[in-house]
Amino acid sequence: MGKRLIIAIDGYSSCGKSTFARAIAEELDYIYIDSGAMYRAVTLYCIRKGYIGVGDVRTTDIIGDLGEIDISFVYNPDIGIHETFLNSENVEREIRSLEVSSHVSRISRIHQVRTRMVELQRQIGINKGIVMDGRDIGTVVFPDADLKIFMTASVDIRAKRRYDELRGKNIEADLEEVRMNIISRDIADENRDISPLRRADDAIILDNSRMTVDQQMDWIMEIIRKKIDED
Ligand code: DC
Repeated sequence: MGKRLIIAIDGYSSCGKSTFARAIAEELDYIYIDSGAMYRAVTLYCIRKGYIGVGDVRTTDIIGDLGEIDISFVYNPDIGIHETFLNSENVEREIRSLEVSSHVSRISRIHQVRTRMVELQRQIGINKGIVMDGRDIGTVVFPDADLKIFMTASVDIRAKRRYDELRGKNIEADLEEVRMNIISRDIADENRDISPLRRADDAIILDNSRMTVDQQMDWIMEIIRKKIDED
C-alpha cells in the first residue's frame, strides 16, 4: 500500500491541471479537489447577490456574507467526479460560465475570501490521500505537500483546450474571447498581492504543450511510485 500523499498541482489557467489531477486521483484512489471551483462558487454567489458591479466589487458585503457561503463537494458516481455545491445547490455547470470566469479574479484577490478557502481546503486534506489543484496549493495551502507540480503550456494551446472544453459542454464560446480571458487571468493571478501564482521552490515544472494526458501520466506515476516507496 505505501503511504498516502498530498499532491499539490499549481499553474496557469486552462493548462489541463484538473484533467491531470483527476487522472492521478483516479489511478491512486485518492480524492481530487478543484480549489478553483471554490473561488468560482463564491463568485457565483456574489454575482447572484449583485455584489459585482461594472467597476467595483462590494467587498464589505462579500466579507460579511462569508459565514453564509457553504461550499462542499459531493461525489457523483455516474461521471466519476466530485461536483461543487454552493449552499446545497449543485453549481458545477454554472461556475464554468464565461461570466463567472471573467469576474473570479476580482473575488479571489480578497484577502478574507482566500483565508476562508484555505481553511476549508486544509480541512478537506486532513486525511491525506488527496490531489488538489489551484494557484497556491504548494505555496500556501499545503507548503509541506509530499509532491508539488507546477504546470504550464502556451497561451494558444490553453485557449484552444478551454474553448473545446466549453463547446463540449454545449456552452457558448468565442475562441478569441477565451484567449483574452486567459491572458488577463494570468496577469491577475501572477500580480495579486496575496498568494500570487508562483512556483514553489520545490515544485517540479511540467510544460505539457506537446504532451498527451497518457504521456503526463507515465511521467508522473514513475515519480509518485518512488515517493510512495521512499520510506
Ligand atoms: O482553476 P480555475 O481557472 O478554475 O480557477 C478560477 C480562478 O480562481 C482563477 O482565475 C484563479 C483563482 N484561483 C486562485 O486564486 N487560487 C486557487 N487556489 C485556485 C484558483
